[in-house]
Amino acid sequence: MTINFRPETTLVLVKPDGVRRGLVGEVVARIERKNLKLVAMQMLRVDEDLARRHYSAHVDKPFFPGLLEFITSGPVVALAVQGEGAVEVVRNLMGATDPKKAAPGTIRGDFGLVVTENLVHGSDAVESAAHELGLFFPELFSRTNA
Ligand code: RTP
Ligand code: MG
Repeated sequence: MTINFRPETTLVLVKPDGVRRGLVGEVVARIERKNLKLVAMQMLRVDEDLARRHYSAHVDKPFFPGLLEFITSGPVVALAVQGEGAVEVVRNLMGATDPKKAAPGTIRGDFGLVVTENLVHGSDAVESAAHELGLFFPELFSRTNA
């Protein structure tokens, strides 16, 4: 018998605004309520080097200076989250990038208002999840295991 289940792991960040506003528990609760599994969790300060690696796709975008200032402005909470389809499921829990357009019932739709301060990050693909998990949890994840 084949068990059709491939656990997938994604990186979630509660961004500095989420930590400042005391929404870490709210984000964690929504992830756990969905029956996703927390496999690692750490509070840390993102420095400029880590920000540039994490947001390497955006370093040349006009909004990058503001994004860099914001993401380094206070501690974040990094979570490694596992479950079937975890990458897409977390993106659905988060809602659209711009909280003004994010659906009610999503984290950004319920708690956010402006695009920079959108509370959470979730990896956008299995490949980027592997890269980002390696950045935030190097002792647990290498680039080769997604
Ligand atoms: P994230 O990477 O943080 O999970 O967000 P995302 O995938 O939904 O959006 P992405 O396109 O990867 O953008 C990364 C972050 O950059 C900021 N942003 N600002 N001013 C703007 O037009 C703009 N566009 C993006 C947001 O904070 C977004 O989360
Ligand atoms: Mg993104």
